[in-house]
Amino acid sequence: MIGCKKKSIGLIFGGNSNEHEVSISSAKTVYQAFNSEINKERFIVRSFYINKYGDWLDSDSSEKILIDESENNKTKKQEIVNREKINFLDGIEFQNVDVWFPLLHGFNGEDGSIHGLLRFTNKPLVGCGIIGSAIGMDKIFMKTIFSNFKLPQVNYLFFQNEDLNDKVVKNKIINEILKKLNFPIFVKPSNSGSSLGISKIINESDLLPALEKAREIDPRIIIEEGLEVREIECGIMGNSTLLTSEIGEVKYESDWYDYDSKYNSNNKIIIPAQIDSKITKEIKEIAIQSCRALNIFGFARVDFFLEKSSNKIFLNEINTIPGFTKNSMFPMLWKASGLNIEQLVAKLVDVSLDL
Ligand SMILES: Nc1ncnc2c1ncn2[C@@H]1O[C@H](COP(=O)(O)OP(=O)(O)O)[C@@H](O)[C@H]1O
Ligand SMILES: [Mg+2]
Repeated sequence: MIGCKKKSIGLIFGGNSNEHEVSISSAKTVYQAFNSEINKERFIVRSFYINKYGDWLDSDSSEKILIDESENNKTKKQEIVNREKINFLDGIEFQNVDVWFPLLHGFNGEDGSIHGLLRFTNKPLVGCGIIGSAIGMDKIFMKTIFSNFKLPQVNYLFFQNEDLNDKVVKNKIINEILKKLNFPIFVKPSNSGSSLGISKIINESDLLPALEKAREIDPRIIIEEGLEVREIECGIMGNSTLLTSEIGEVKYESDWYDYDSKYNSNNKIIIPAQIDSKITKEIKEIAIQSCRALNIFGFARVDFFLEKSSNKIFLNEINTIPGFTKNSMFPMLWKASGLNIEQLVAKLVDVSLDL
């Protein structure tokens, strides 16, 4: 019967990025949710795994990674396949997909590259477009636009493609940082993820090594004044109308939310975050304004800092393909807002179809 045909979801995961493994975990969660009793009536999933070298695997091989518990061994074996040849969509079955669901965190995916590629298929996708994805991933552009919209941010500076080996340039940069920002200072590559390449420094002598570390990932560097903060996150979804989820707080044992602490199981997620209702309301408003500023829609997670001493809110960043594992903030925020994971994935497809 027309109208009752199941929607075919093209789940794309893995990818040539430092968040490859997280993407597999996210995709497993989403795959299971689409295959739940309630969703099986409406959807079928076709899986597309991209290995760490950028090779696309066919749907059957990809699905095995999602249902096989020993995904790490499988991934490693398949990485050797096709290394010599350009495997770009070679033999990949696109025709039977109705809606794409890209779950590629970080580089070569979340940065808009997958959105650009999928545009040529003329099929809708879960998530936002090329511009929002690319700007959301690039801290320099993101912050510049937020400043233009007068959204609250910590004090920051940025440098693009400067030659740190040139003594005059190096001194000019260091002097400007010392003049304009107070310690502690965070030094970040403009494009990265999972806190990789980021340093928190408290002394002038650590500045140059931190700049060099960031530059290894991206020659465009952001330098921020570091505050004592609580970390607050809010989910959004929608198109012309954006909805916000409950607000959550993540608590960790380390000094800041660095790479190791991000993947530490002792982290605590508290939903709803214990903050007063006026601040909650303000955070939700800024979450929507910030997504509008960058043309982000579909779904995203907006991250904030709440300064401990002043209770002031600062916008940190927007993640356009946030973690989707069982323990990830984004699905937990929506669960607390009344959508369990099965309802959430179905709703995101509806949003992509403007239903
Ligand atoms: N200005 C800042 N003040 C305090 N903590 C910060 C600041 N900037 C970053 N951090 C800490 O570093 C973490 C990672 O920074 P973030 O910019 O979110 O990078 P990523 O995009 O890799 O997640 C934050 O979650 C926070 O713990
Ligand atoms: Mg972050």
